[in-house]
Amino acid sequence: MIETQTIAFSPERLAEVQTLIKSYPEGKQKSAILPILHLAQKDFGWISVEVMDYVGGLLDIQHIEVYEVASFYTMFHLSPVGKSVLEVCRTGPCMLVGSDNIVKYLENKLNIKDGETTPDGLFTIKTVECLGACGYAPMMQVGEKYHEFLTEERIDQLLEEFTKNATKP
Ligand code: FES
Repeated sequence: MIETQTIAFSPERLAEVQTLIKSYPEGKQKSAILPILHLAQKDFGWISVEVMDYVGGLLDIQHIEVYEVASFYTMFHLSPVGKSVLEVCRTGPCMLVGSDNIVKYLENKLNIKDGETTPDGLFTIKTVECLGACGYAPMMQVGEKYHEFLTEERIDQLLEEFTKNATKP
């Protein structure tokens, strides 16, 4: 998708980006980088080098500064991903209550490894660091939603739900 696409926000999105940039004091426009990267990921699907360069141009900063930020946060996808990105927390509290088993179960069920996408483009498994829901471990984030107290049965239900939603006409 992105390879053939010109990297540019729509005029409406660009206006939103300019408003974001202007909300920071003169010379501190770089502070708008996170919300702009979120918008870029929403619009372009993932954060390619071209997207990072484009964002760097908008902010008038060195491109390397965008690479540093985008590669630091796991919520930014630096390669193409499936329709549902299963971001499973692997940090201590989640690991203590079986996040490893959840990841293994997903890997076996979807026949892919952590970081990979199913051939039908529906799912990507991505292990991530603490998502701040340790009291509800083990958990994963999919899109904007948290799914907590995961079990194999719950994973089965969720995958069915995501598949149904993704293949809706
Ligand atoms: Fe998993 Fe905090 S350790 S949400």
